[in-house]
Amino acid sequence: MTSPAKPRVLMCPTDHFGVEYVINPWMQGQIGRVDRDRAARQWNQLRSTLSELAEVEVIDPGERLPDMVFTANAGLLLDDVFVPSNFRVPERDGEVPLFNRWFADRGYKIVELPRDQPFEGEGDALFHPGQPLLWAGYGVRSGIEAHPTLTDIFNVEVVSLRLVDQRFYHLDTCFYPLPDGRAVYFPAAFDERSLSEIRKRVPADKRIEVGEDDAMHFTCNCVRLGDTLVTNYAGQDLQQRLNAWGYTVRCTTVDEFLLAGGAAKCLTLLLQQDLGPDPKSRPKFTSPVRTRRVQMAGHLLDHGTLNKAMDLTIDAGLGCGVENFSPGERSDQHTRATLRVTSPSAERMDDVISELMKMGAQPLDDLADAELVEVVKDGVAPDDFYSTTIYPTDIRVGGNWARCTAQRMDAMVVVDPGSTPPTARCALMRDLKVGDRVVTGITGVRVKTPDLRRDDEAFSFMSSSVSSERRVEQTVETLAWEIKRIKQRGGKVAVVAGPVVVHTGGGRHLERLIRAGFIDVLLTGNALPTHDIELNLYGTSLGMDLKRGIGVHGGHKHHLKAINLVRRAGSIKQAVEQGVITGGVMHACVEHDVNYVLAGSIRDDGPLPDTEMDLVKAQHAYAEAIKGCDMVLMLSSMLHAIGTGNMTPAGVKLVCVDISPAVVTKLADRGSVESVGIVTDVGLLLNLLAGRLCEA
Ligand code: ARG
Repeated sequence: MTSPAKPRVLMCPTDHFGVEYVINPWMQGQIGRVDRDRAARQWNQLRSTLSELAEVEVIDPGERLPDMVFTANAGLLLDDVFVPSNFRVPERDGEVPLFNRWFADRGYKIVELPRDQPFEGEGDALFHPGQPLLWAGYGVRSGIEAHPTLTDIFNVEVVSLRLVDQRFYHLDTCFYPLPDGRAVYFPAAFDERSLSEIRKRVPADKRIEVGEDDAMHFTCNCVRLGDTLVTNYAGQDLQQRLNAWGYTVRCTTVDEFLLAGGAAKCLTLLLQQDLGPDPKSRPKFTSPVRTRRVQMAGHLLDHGTLNKAMDLTIDAGLGCGVENFSPGERSDQHTRATLRVTSPSAERMDDVISELMKMGAQPLDDLADAELVEVVKDGVAPDDFYSTTIYPTDIRVGGNWARCTAQRMDAMVVVDPGSTPPTARCALMRDLKVGDRVVTGITGVRVKTPDLRRDDEAFSFMSSSVSSERRVEQTVETLAWEIKRIKQRGGKVAVVAGPVVVHTGGGRHLERLIRAGFIDVLLTGNALPTHDIELNLYGTSLGMDLKRGIGVHGGHKHHLKAINLVRRAGSIKQAVEQGVITGGVMHACVEHDVNYVLAGSIRDDGPLPDTEMDLVKAQHAYAEAIKGCDMVLMLSSMLHAIGTGNMTPAGVKLVCVDISPAVVTKLADRGSVESVGIVTDVGLLLNLLAGRLCEA
């Protein structure tokens, strides 16, 4: 495994080394603390160790360039081509011309990267010895944007590895490739996708995953010369494993450089690489990295939309840049920006772009028709199906845009390109039929998200905190006003409610609202009607006397007796008609012709004859019932409320009331901006609302 010619490396003396600024976590608290004599002694020791095995060349250090000792960051070279670094950090920019001159003077061809592609040289890019493969780090210092350019310059396969721990900010702090397809690395420094890229190429018996102790002592920051590994530190265990692979490990302390976040490898740049067979016999490599642009417009700053979009992109492991940023001049004007998104794979790209589309972004480079794939098995979507949002969606078919019908979230889009004009509709997975043509990917899809005005924000989900009394009163006032307006224009209001409405004494207020004609649809399960009828018959709700707030002897059976009576009558309606039920929410529904749908669940007693226990049928009945509703009041019900939220298009106002902030937040996750969440007791809220609406 010894390379033929004596290797050459480049080092830079420590005359100006120090910690004078903080550009990585290791430097924190270390400004002015470097012992330069000690550093010099350690550097000389490293140099003499390396000199035994390699030819060490030296570049003159530049004044006021305390990090220039870390020559690994000069750039990356292969044969006679030198690609200088494009430092993300301005502190190190001054090194670039000095290194460039050194390489130019020695006849290297200097190939520069575009300015908007940050890249920090061999610190973030390691050729795999003996293979046409470049491991390239990104995410902290270097950007993934540089990777396709490196693929083209060197014609090698570039594997993009995302660094997720600021302490391992350069790839050479946590990854070290060895000949024969081996590698040593610290897994916690990478995201899942990167780990699987590594494991795909380096089989289990050829990789060593080092532990925290080794990693923190920069063990991976290692220089291999033939079969000798020179590093700052390696624990017993690791040394033994490396010995078993035929390596001699030589630890030479460079801990003074750890104060600046560097060690042995950072202090050297390899002047030769061995990528195996003749480069001319290599196939042409193309980069899997893709870049797309999306346009965003709206109150991007006021609402933090731009931040959210960038966070989302970066958290997903993609590169992100902003172009053509133009803020509105006044607070009520829109900001425009183009977001440039760079992804290690096409699939990730689609996922992120479709998330961005939910935030209102429009893909720019995309004037192609949607990609349609035929369903080959009933109820099964093609892989990579587009999944819908609540917002109006257009699909590009034959060069024209078709507006989706039956808009709802979490559905697929079925296109009929044959009809004139072509049509598009949302369809549930289970309703897909063989031959349906389903939109896949995100090409040719446009989503129209609303843009909140700044003052609308007060009326959106207050996700996590309990609403104050004043706040509840105010919200109820606005709510009452909106409901009145909906009713005045002949609109419809639906209520989704859970049994807590009855337990908290809110039943009689809901009943008042129904009798006064404010509610058109009641969506619930088996429990609310059961306890409502129980209350009407026995004065208890789940055995509790609601007037006195105490348990009643034998009360635990009351709800079963209530169910039994309704079952005997045949249905709730028949029980009302036969005079078995004389008041309450369900009685009011029957008398006032309110459409009620009861969707069952696994915990139901009985059930009541009206409860639909076939959930597919129940979902369908809910969806039919909310058609044309302008508002849905969700009252202390989690599953039924979420189920309803899922089938409701944008433009329908959702009002979610629950005592548990978590439930309100869950509903808010649906992402509808025109909705409101109130964390309070539902009985209290209904009391206030009925007071406002029914007594006025
Ligand atoms: N202080 C330097 C920086 O943060 C250390 C560079 C270490 N070099 C390396 N190849 N990891 O840029």
